[in-house]
Amino acid sequence: MKNNKYASLLLAIMFMAFSLQLIAQPKINVKKQFALAEKQYVEMLKTHPDTDKTPQSVNPDGTLRDMPTSWWCSGFFGGSLWQLYEYTKKPQWKDAAHLWTMAIQKEQYNTRTHDLGFMVYIPFGTGYRLTKNPVYKKIMLNGAESLSTRFDPNRGVIKSWNDFKGHKYPVIIDNLMNLDFLFWATRETGNKKYYDIATTHANSTIKNHFRPDNSSYHVVLYDADGSVAGRKTHQGAADESAWARGQAWSLYGYTSIYRDTKDKIYLDQAIKIADFFINHPNLPADKVPYWDFNAPKIPNEERDASAAAIASSGLFELAGYVDKARKKQYTDIATKMLESLSSPAYRAKFGENNNFLLKHSTGHKPGKSEIDVPLVYADYYYLEALMRYAKLRK
Ligand code: GLY
Repeated sequence: MKNNKYASLLLAIMFMAFSLQLIAQPKINVKKQFALAEKQYVEMLKTHPDTDKTPQSVNPDGTLRDMPTSWWCSGFFGGSLWQLYEYTKKPQWKDAAHLWTMAIQKEQYNTRTHDLGFMVYIPFGTGYRLTKNPVYKKIMLNGAESLSTRFDPNRGVIKSWNDFKGHKYPVIIDNLMNLDFLFWATRETGNKKYYDIATTHANSTIKNHFRPDNSSYHVVLYDADGSVAGRKTHQGAADESAWARGQAWSLYGYTSIYRDTKDKIYLDQAIKIADFFINHPNLPADKVPYWDFNAPKIPNEERDASAAAIASSGLFELAGYVDKARKKQYTDIATKMLESLSSPAYRAKFGENNNFLLKHSTGHKPGKSEIDVPLVYADYYYLEALMRYAKLRK
């Protein structure tokens, strides 16, 4: 009788320990995902040794699509190699990251695009954070100066493209992602000019780019006096639709602007955007959005894994700045997104997907380009989100 009681007690304790262990199990095996990413990118480097063009995606005929260094995505591959170095600490990744970072150096003088945050700050900035190589800093300071030339004080915004259907001052929501670079430049030089440009742009964007439901337009056209001549889309389904990656850029963008300024206006904006994104009735159960929240044929529309990767990484950071209830909500959704991306539905196996990590991103559906494909920036933000998830568990 006594023995039976002890046996039952022991069984109960064993069951509880097993359940607790299950609860404590991380949902995503970051170590395993990085090990697979290393194998895939070793293969990528072997099959694509030419640093004049960076891996971008896959062509419709199945071949690897690469792009010149002047393309807005040229910094992401080097950025991902730095993340492999940061996680693994293996010198081979530092060497590869340095090579692919320096391959972009001429873009420090590029004044024809606003994308220098992506192209220059991601590879050189990550490299500088990890190595303090003074060469990277010099290149970045030139890059920040080039970016600042595109700011017009009358309009209060940085010009994104030089032309949009005949209009000469288009600003896209993605532009928020360049501001972190300018805040960095002020921290490094003490010159407040960059900080002022960044906050002015961020304020104009809050005023002009958002709808009452906190979704954003893709393109806003500015007249010379700063008034708005039109609100359009380029990569979204319609002028009035919510292009998924644009929402992700603004969520991530205002979160980083809050980190750089500690001004609550930007935190409030990031929260509003996050709440629009995560509560949208068209966000699927796996939390990987369709390429546009208002795409006309939902549920028969392509997903955009890149938007999920950007949003997941952004939400992990935002969760660190909000109250307890929101913190849990944002962390849970960011984790769910990352779990989906890490599942076979989105995560490529070794030997497939032209060695990119994620499948099922959509670059520009209305332009009939890069639909349901891997994209180099989806991989970059996926690796970043994995590291942010890993840090939460330490
Ligand atoms: N910045 C362009 C894009 O997100 O496709």
